[in-house]
Amino acid sequence: MSDQLRFDGRVVLVTGAGNGLGKEYALKFAERGASVVVNDLGGDIKGEGKSSRAADLVVDEIKAKGGKAVANYDSVEDGEKLVQTALDTFGRIDIVVNNAGILRDRSFARTSDLDWDLVHRVHLRGSFLVTRAAWPHMKKQKYGRVILTTSAAGLYGNFGQANYSAAKMGLVGLANTLEKEGVKYNILTNVIAPMAGSRLTQTVMPQDIIDALKPEYVAPLVLYLCHEGCTENGGVFECGAGSACKVRLERSDGAIFRQKNVPVSPEQVRSNWDKICDFSNSTYPRSTQAATGAFMATLAAIDEDSPIKPNPTAGSGGGAIDPNKAIGTKLKVEPRSYGPDQVILYALGVGMSTNEPDHLKFLYEGSEDFSVLPTYGVIPAFGSVATAGIPGLEIDPTKILHGEQYLELHKTIPTSGSVHSEITIADVIDKGSGAVIIQDIKTYDEKNELLFTNQFTTFVVGAGGFGGKRNSDKAKPTVKPPSREPDAVIEEKTSVDQAALYRLSGDKNPLHLDPNFAAMGGFSKPILHGLCSFGHAGRHVLKQYAGNDVEKFKAIKVRFAKPVLPGQTIRTEMWKEGNRIHFQCKVGETGDVCLSGAYVDLVGTASDATSTPAEETSESPVDLIFKEMGRRVNDFPEETKKVRGIFLYRMTDGKKVISEYTVDLKSGAPGTGKVYKGTPKTKADCTVTMSEKDFGDLVIGKLNPQQAFFQGKLKVAGNIMLMQKAGTLFQQHAKM
Ligand code: NAI
Repeated sequence: MSDQLRFDGRVVLVTGAGNGLGKEYALKFAERGASVVVNDLGGDIKGEGKSSRAADLVVDEIKAKGGKAVANYDSVEDGEKLVQTALDTFGRIDIVVNNAGILRDRSFARTSDLDWDLVHRVHLRGSFLVTRAAWPHMKKQKYGRVILTTSAAGLYGNFGQANYSAAKMGLVGLANTLEKEGVKYNILTNVIAPMAGSRLTQTVMPQDIIDALKPEYVAPLVLYLCHEGCTENGGVFECGAGSACKVRLERSDGAIFRQKNVPVSPEQVRSNWDKICDFSNSTYPRSTQAATGAFMATLAAIDEDSPIKPNPTAGSGGGAIDPNKAIGTKLKVEPRSYGPDQVILYALGVGMSTNEPDHLKFLYEGSEDFSVLPTYGVIPAFGSVATAGIPGLEIDPTKILHGEQYLELHKTIPTSGSVHSEITIADVIDKGSGAVIIQDIKTYDEKNELLFTNQFTTFVVGAGGFGGKRNSDKAKPTVKPPSREPDAVIEEKTSVDQAALYRLSGDKNPLHLDPNFAAMGGFSKPILHGLCSFGHAGRHVLKQYAGNDVEKFKAIKVRFAKPVLPGQTIRTEMWKEGNRIHFQCKVGETGDVCLSGAYVDLVGTASDATSTPAEETSESPVDLIFKEMGRRVNDFPEETKKVRGIFLYRMTDGKKVISEYTVDLKSGAPGTGKVYKGTPKTKADCTVTMSEKDFGDLVIGKLNPQQAFFQGKLKVAGNIMLMQKAGTLFQQHAKM
């Protein structure tokens, strides 16, 4: 099966893998390509005795089937030794499944110190020690998957299992913190509460149920949670009999029973009891901050002079911003039609004028090459940006500022048509003073083909402090321009009516036209729409570096730094670096930067008349191609993830090798990669040798890779399949 979840190259440590569930996990990981450390102390279910037999039998079974495994007989209390076995035998550790377990069931009153301590030492302390030993290695490689094993007895309690329940619930607490500490290193931790027939359950279940509840029904969830493609983190799952479900903490809306300057009493608690326990308006907090936010809100609500002034939209009992609810939400937007009138109105709105002869193709539908400005792609999407109706995002629309914009075209925009969009709340970030909401909007044409993708980044003033993360890996980053003087500059005075004209394309916010409204927002005059300045800048780059050829425009990113007033001058400063045109815009009259960290990516080799001469850069064309590949690797983590390999490109002058480049998509976390000049730090999976000239031809599509191969122009050694995958990554997005 082509989409089988594989673990090739991954090293898995399963504790207590000599029997029951652990054995099943070990066998299944090995079947799917992982190298497995089969740990088992080999004692009895009470934690007494020791033997190498259990682990050895599992290792033998894996090896007999052609898999890779090594046994380890140490107790999980020697966590370092278990991880050392993985490092010594397989050189790394990627996945730890903390599974080893014992039982010493006693009614609570009869539980001895030894019963309590032994159970805690194996389950809770053992998981701590093994995971802590693996942690620095996972952190360094920016990859790790950890499973902790709890139990229904821990989640819900069970007669005679006080020691076990406490240790098992302790593992949920451990995971709650590992979730938060690990995420930035791509170490994801999840908890399972399995249910399967094994020697542990023999004493509590009838034999026919034990036989029916096979460990093989649990293993798939563990494998999925440990796969590099799974992004679940901090989840708790019950699993058995081939089914799984998720468990979470629920918090009632509660009641405030204190009044200002009145002592609190148990009677007040009693009279509010029903409300305290009423789950009808419950929330599911996922962070300490979200939970404590409610108490901060209580303090401020009761005592106006309280030092705590919680944010009205954040962290309150109602959980107005709950990233866990919001992220991933998808909203569909009804189709909308547009035609030449709309695209011409937009072109006028972003300052096109019949004064310029080359503007006519954007202003007259009768032009032979009537075209749509690429930045028009923000217009159908703009109307779709969601500010309401998103679960977990109760925000005040008057507090929203447009922070950044990214637009990528997948096809040239037709001059008329019907388009429909799908919004995804890609991320919600807590910046303290505000919340940043990242929305990805994909817009499709009538044939359901992707036309363009927008990323709207909005800042909600005062909505921070909900305890969310501070950065996002979903955001399209802005990029600083080079430090040299700009390669080209276009200055253009906007019309005093610019905002009045631009708003007719859809953004009717009175801030841009009504002086009273602007004054309320603290502006001396109505300000130009940020996306109007963006449209000006986009067409400046299009003219300067693509000769107004819309087919050459691939993507644009800007940060809105300061407003521009209608009538002011927009000065676009541009730098050409390969296919990327860095730019920033200043207000001509004040020198303030209004658009920063911006760039336009052009398709292929921009054969513009006015581009920067090649000698202005010391980089060779091949250097630039690899630089672009590096950019693609960063920009498309999902695609990059699919290619786990190290590629060495050896460039010749036709005879001997004159330069070498490495594309390393394997050493870092999945979805990341490095492209650099020189040979790889570890062995390449695939080596490509060809002349610089042929490589250039290949990249611009003049030379077909298959033909080049058969003509002997392209030599590939190593894993050719991997090479083909990499080709897809670069070709799909770069037209390279
Ligand atoms: P099992 O007894 O079949 O397997 C546990 C293995 O852990 C044994 O091979 C044992 O030798 C090993 N082990 C015990 N102490 C160790 C130590 N100090 N160091 C290394 N290995 C050690 O039990 P089963 O049922 O497969 O349980 C696996 C895990 O799942 C346990 O953590 C258990 O508490 C948990 N669990 C199982 C449930 C079930 O329905 N089977 C229900 C809920 C939780």
